[in-house]
Amino acid sequence: MAIDRILNNKIDEDEQEVELENSLRPRDFKNYIGQDRLKKNLKLAIAAAKKRGEPLDHVLLYGPPGLGKTTMATVIANEMNATIRVTSGPAIERAADLASLLTNLQDGDVLFIDEIHRLHRSIEEVLYSAMEDFKLDIMIGKGPSAKSLRLDLPKFTIIGATTRTGTLAAPLRDRFGMIHRLEFYNEDEIKKIIDRAAKILGVMINEEAARSLSQRARLTPRIANRLLKRVRDYAEVHGDGHIDKDINVKAMELLDIDELGLEPADRLLLNTIIDNYKGGPVGVDSLAASIAEERATIEDFYEPYLLQIGLLSRTSRGREATQKAYKHLNKTR
Ligand SMILES: Nc1ncnc2c1ncn2[C@@H]1O[C@H](COP(=O)(O)OP(=O)(O)OP(=O)(O)O)[C@@H](O)[C@H]1O
Ligand SMILES: [Mg+2]
Repeated sequence: MAIDRILNNKIDEDEQEVELENSLRPRDFKNYIGQDRLKKNLKLAIAAAKKRGEPLDHVLLYGPPGLGKTTMATVIANEMNATIRVTSGPAIERAADLASLLTNLQDGDVLFIDEIHRLHRSIEEVLYSAMEDFKLDIMIGKGPSAKSLRLDLPKFTIIGATTRTGTLAAPLRDRFGMIHRLEFYNEDEIKKIIDRAAKILGVMINEEAARSLSQRARLTPRIANRLLKRVRDYAEVHGDGHIDKDINVKAMELLDIDELGLEPADRLLLNTIIDNYKGGPVGVDSLAASIAEERATIEDFYEPYLLQIGLLSRTSRGREATQKAYKHLNKTR
């Protein structure tokens, strides 16, 4: 039994959602809340690159969905005064697609490759020399008469984003000068993101409600923004548009999101470990089969947050529900 995730990463990317994300997307470091260590490192690297008159070294950003990787890529390009071109691993089907992307770049451009872990291995290999020497090796013709040709490329910056570095081939990973993990935000930062979004959207939300909402946003900016929008809907229909704590609690009840930001699907996962596997350890494949979810969804979306807040632990023998999970779900061992 799979439950539709209300807040699942890519589920509700209708036009309105995309527009919402764009309007709320910070464009410079000043408006990009949190990730202080990452920002410090990038500011330094950007200042140095500018001073030398060179493009920025290639950057790899990784971490759970919705933490601001794409946003950071556009911020970096803006701060470098560079043009950004956007593509993704699955969109590049043949080596020729990549070749045409690369040869159309200008000096200093940023090429953002989302989901870079999904690039074909054969295409990855074309990237190696492109990233290292700004050269493109292409084969002309087929069979014994085939010739290899070496083209000069402009000096560009690749920014790669992935939810998982584990599946990235080492030679590709090694060609990034900077590799940074995006961390979960803390509640104060999430609250700042909610306050900023409320201002941009013209939503009235009081201090208490913003605080309570920031506790339920899974420490994730994308979810903070989406929850705010849904509570706003509730406030407009069932109240006068103002969001207070009462409205917030009722909207969350309707969405079935609890005080820790868990949705039905999270609770199903934890309950399954507790009820069917005596609290674990249980291997992720068995768990995936039990709740009819894909392993990757569990690993990329559910787990990071549950691990972060200490409801789940990961051991060599599998996943275990923690004491905190038992308590949260009112279960006894
Ligand atoms: N640091 C931040 N400050 C304010 N808002 C942010 C921040 N990071 C992300 N956001 C908001 O969260 C939304 C989601 O961020 P983004 O799309 O960059 O995440 P992502 O890491 O690329 O996710 P995915 O892995 O799903 O591609 C953005 O539209 C933006 O409005
Ligand atoms: Mg993204």
